[in-house]
Amino acid sequence: MEFITVDPVFDKNVALIRLNRPKELNALNLQMMGELRDSLKILDEDDSVRVIIITGNEKAFAAGADIKEMADKSAVDMLKTNQFNTWENIRKTKKPLIAAVSGFALGGGCELSMTCDMIIASETAKFGQPEIKIGVMPGAGGTQRLTNAIGKAKAMELILTGNFLSAEEALSYGLVNKVVPVEMLMDTAKQLALQIAEMSPLAVMLAKEAINRSYETHLEEGLTLERKNFYLAFSSEDQKEGMQAFIEKRKPNFSGN
Ligand code: CAA
Repeated sequence: MEFITVDPVFDKNVALIRLNRPKELNALNLQMMGELRDSLKILDEDDSVRVIIITGNEKAFAAGADIKEMADKSAVDMLKTNQFNTWENIRKTKKPLIAAVSGFALGGGCELSMTCDMIIASETAKFGQPEIKIGVMPGAGGTQRLTNAIGKAKAMELILTGNFLSAEEALSYGLVNKVVPVEMLMDTAKQLALQIAEMSPLAVMLAKEAINRSYETHLEEGLTLERKNFYLAFSSEDQKEGMQAFIEKRKPNFSGN
């Protein structure tokens, strides 16, 4: 593994996956997502593991999909790469996933935290879907999961402005389970994981499946439309301009084409 570390015995039956591309603020490139998918599959099939925590570092859980990797891609390239297959596999993890989030959880990073079943945030956590600022839109479930978590009005505001939510705001809107000082983040996530790990693993798995089913029928349809529109954005000049402007560290000039 190059971009993540995996500890299958973080504590008792709790495993820990750490996103580990710190220089790039854990930007989720294709290889890292593949490593995450493969590790989760192994942990999901390992009877000695009951709960899995996913975390990043103090500055960033993850600052989104890797913009540099996507900047030159066309809509057809994106469609052919089919990166969301990986996300689908992650979504189907049967064991509970807890995201322990400190610092930036943006774009794909926010979407990854929401793909987990619960989120413990440090006081420094910042959540957002800033894709609009680079000429695209969320593609890994943000339009669906954020709306489901915090309601239409706030989700609309966040996704259309690209503004961030502080940890306290995220707590008040119901996006996260708990906010704690940064030094208590891992311990708090671990305590929650250990409590769940003491329950019947089968009952836990069945309950998780049932809770997710409460919105999954809509989610399937919503994800399909979101992906189609995300790919479509890659046929625009604004996507090229937005991502190039990010790379060149300047303000984008969107033409509407
Ligand atoms: N992709 C690629 N590289 C990224 C990145 C990303 N998403 N986010 C940060 N980086 C890189 C920066 O380019 C920079 O690299 P260099 O040192 O080589 O220039 C390094 O990480 C550190 O970043 P900054 O210097 O920008 O750090 P900062 O503290 O000044 O700003 C930030 C932090 C506000 C998070 C800023 O980095 C930022 O806006 N990042 C992009 C956030 C974003 O737009 N995310 C959405 C991506 S698209 C997506 O996720 C689509 C989807 O739904 C699947």
